[in-house]
Amino acid sequence: MSHLVNYIENRRTFAIIAHPDAGKTTLTEKLLLFGGAIQLAGAVKARGDARRARSDWMKVEQERGISVASSVMTFDYGEQTFNLLDTPGHEDFSEDTYRTLTAVDSAVMVLDGAKGVESQTKKLFEVCRLRDVPIVTFVNKMDRESRDTFEILDEIEQSLALDVTPATLPIGMGRDFLGCYDLINDQLILMERTKGSKIGAGIKVAGLDDPKLDELLPAHAVKKLREDVDMARGLCPEFDHQAYLEGTMTPVFFGSAVNNFGVRELLDGLAKYAPSPRPQQASTRMVQPSEPKVTGIVFKIQANMDPKHRDRIAFMRINSGHFKRGMKLKHLRSGKMINLHNPVLFMAQDREVAEEAVAGDIIGIPNHGNLRIGDTLSETEDLRFIGVPTFAPEYLQKARPADPLKAKHLGKALQQIAEEGGACVFKPNLGADWIVGVVGPLQFEVLADRIRTEYEIPVHFEQTELYTARWIEAPDDKQLKDFVDSNRGATGVDHDGAPVYMARNAWHLNKATEDFPAIKLQKTKEQS
Ligand code: G4P
Repeated sequence: MSHLVNYIENRRTFAIIAHPDAGKTTLTEKLLLFGGAIQLAGAVKARGDARRARSDWMKVEQERGISVASSVMTFDYGEQTFNLLDTPGHEDFSEDTYRTLTAVDSAVMVLDGAKGVESQTKKLFEVCRLRDVPIVTFVNKMDRESRDTFEILDEIEQSLALDVTPATLPIGMGRDFLGCYDLINDQLILMERTKGSKIGAGIKVAGLDDPKLDELLPAHAVKKLREDVDMARGLCPEFDHQAYLEGTMTPVFFGSAVNNFGVRELLDGLAKYAPSPRPQQASTRMVQPSEPKVTGIVFKIQANMDPKHRDRIAFMRINSGHFKRGMKLKHLRSGKMINLHNPVLFMAQDREVAEEAVAGDIIGIPNHGNLRIGDTLSETEDLRFIGVPTFAPEYLQKARPADPLKAKHLGKALQQIAEEGGACVFKPNLGADWIVGVVGPLQFEVLADRIRTEYEIPVHFEQTELYTARWIEAPDDKQLKDFVDSNRGATGVDHDGAPVYMARNAWHLNKATEDFPAIKLQKTKEQS
């Protein structure tokens, strides 16, 4: 048992959130490099390119420079095992990102030192705040002309309403960027400009008064550093571990991911301060990570991750227990037992069969469509984890096959995509069209491309006069029927058969609610 606790204590399951171009990919590579998971920096990208070259629908990703597919990378560093969950950066994929962020215990927020907090940083941060996810900040690209250190700290504090404390302070910037002073451990780390896979050892001195400082740094830099440290200690609150864990304070590290600088300090910081797997809320009770029986929740489904294996992978976060390969877990939604004989862990370079896993770990379960987002798997107890919602789509279009004879096939493809969480798919009570709803309009392009390449059905998406959709919640079947009968032309069902109301405009939406006060029209749906 204590063995299990020890394992769990050493897990760090986290995501990186960043505005596109801030350096998320570069930092990911460097974290893997420090973790020894890849020998060659660049492997993340190379792997990405190789995958894209093989997979046609990923062209959209390539052309737009966005990351549609997200993945999980596991690596060891010191005593700890890190699970890094990649999140798509483009705002059109916020729902997927949201779900991924429900599966992490902490996050690293990467900022470009010249740009500070950008629009997407803010959105992603808000998602983290909703769940009190603790955040460590990494201010990247200090080897370029960046903003003044205190200006950046102030901006984070003001625009995110978060207490900020520097964990390191940069010495110079741009061409004169010399390194950082580590305020937590009172040491100097000088930068060696190393690229590729070489990791600079760093030079350490003890404290600000160490005369070695004056030997190592030019006089003006030492003077400025001492002033900055004084200022930081005077102006910023001290690092408060509890406040960080509660998500109200962020420690800030400075560095240059591309030069491998500051990455080790960031990792050390995560190892020391980031939370191990947190208890998770189930419908009946909180589930503690150290409980002996295995439980987990599916937070993401991905189709055809690997063209060699035409399958779907359900990503499950283990919430408790000691999972071992070959285990049978109960699938609570269907009541059936599922045999997990070939689960996969996502190592940086390739899939590996997961022999065992504990709370905080992510395993991939190959399946043919029986697992859905929000599903709970459990060794013994009947419980259901909550908190992985589906959001009402903001864009609704009709899906039409180019060949009318393919309508049935299209329906099947859409059903599968809806189960994966790639879009909402509604079948209106009247008419033969499928209505597809998404959170961001770019998703229509990705969907059309996927349906064409994966299912070989050329499809068009056409504008509708629909404004939004809501899930219908009624106190009983009779009231549901009354509502549906009075709104025949505006109702339908989603891929699970759950009733939905599709409004043409805000006025209709209001009217429906006013006419049927007992009916609730919901913006989100918890997975059933
Ligand atoms: P993203 O995943 O957040 O979108 O960003 P990514 O890591 O792809 O980085 C965006 C660009 O910023 C890349 O340049 C990358 O090399 C560069 N970059 C990342 N970290 C640093 C840093 O510490 N300093 C400097 N100066 N640049 C950095 P690119 O020209 O778009 O691509 P590449 O050809 O260099 O790969």
